[in-house]
Amino acid sequence: MPLVTTTEMFKKAYAGGYAIGAFNVNNMEIVQGITEAAKEVNAPLILQVSKGARAYANHTYLVKLVEAAVIECPGIPIALHLDHGPDFETCKSCIDGGFTSVMIDASSKPFEENIAITKKVVEYAHDHGVVVEAELGTLAGIEDDVQVSAEDSSYTRPEEVQEFVEKTGCDSLAIAIGTSHGAYKFKPGTKPQLRFDVLEEVEKRLPNFPIVLHGSSSVPQDFVEMINANGGSMPGAIGVPEDQLRKAASMAVCKINIDSDLRLAMTGTVRQFFAQHPDKFDPREYLKPARAAIKDMVKHKLINVLGCDGKA
Ligand code: G3H
Ligand code: 13P
Ligand code: ZN
Repeated sequence: MPLVTTTEMFKKAYAGGYAIGAFNVNNMEIVQGITEAAKEVNAPLILQVSKGARAYANHTYLVKLVEAAVIECPGIPIALHLDHGPDFETCKSCIDGGFTSVMIDASSKPFEENIAITKKVVEYAHDHGVVVEAELGTLAGIEDDVQVSAEDSSYTRPEEVQEFVEKTGCDSLAIAIGTSHGAYKFKPGTKPQLRFDVLEEVEKRLPNFPIVLHGSSSVPQDFVEMINANGGSMPGAIGVPEDQLRKAASMAVCKINIDSDLRLAMTGTVRQFFAQHPDKFDPREYLKPARAAIKDMVKHKLINVLGCDGKA
């Protein structure tokens, strides 16, 4: 099947109490690891591309890699999504260039400005059969070239979501309930806890509307330890507990964004490979176990965290 939008995926995910995994892709091995996992467990997928990924790998290469995955996985619905679109022009370029879904992230702008920018993207996207994710509330952490400190982050205000969705016409909404971007989400010694009360309030005000969680890597400690044991230094890297993501997926959350966990799997495996084989220099030899680690990790997420296995 050709690339799809997220409309059907979200409808089924909402009704079924599970979420779709949205994984960031930057190169061939990452695309292969993710899609081989989804194919094996028969899960729908969102492959997403950030502004940084486009700058690194080039729009055309990424689209063609994803199109190759679509050919290799004919039975699986795959959407190609722009992650954190910073402005109308970037969204337009992706809509014109083969994406089926875009995010316009104007969450750092004042409420009325966020509405105006999002509405403009929605009008263009819908005219071209593309769906739009928007964001209300601010996550902490680093996304592309924007760094938000924990003090400057803010939870989504449930009393704003209805007006925002009505005025913009967006198809899904990313909210801030305590997740954050990157590998350092919570302070060591504190108890990671998402604000399910905020999610419940949003759900009440937007019945049947798909909610998105960014910053949802769990930062698996086996990979952190693998990195630290092989020349890396990532003290205090902590992610979102998987049981909390599972709970969110059973509620209104239909899309869960995961990027850092892919990076940790790849980096840990490559570091370990070089430590064990200091004489090797063939990229195929060290990228093969990295791709396999991504595949195993994604499979685990699809089955045990998102609950979307068998839903393709
Ligand atoms: O939320 C941001 C994603 O993890 C993408 O990261 O901008 O480094 O590609 P990136
Ligand atoms: P993580 O940094 O938690 O993987 O979040 C990724 C993300 O939100 C991409 O938009
Ligand atoms: Zn994000």
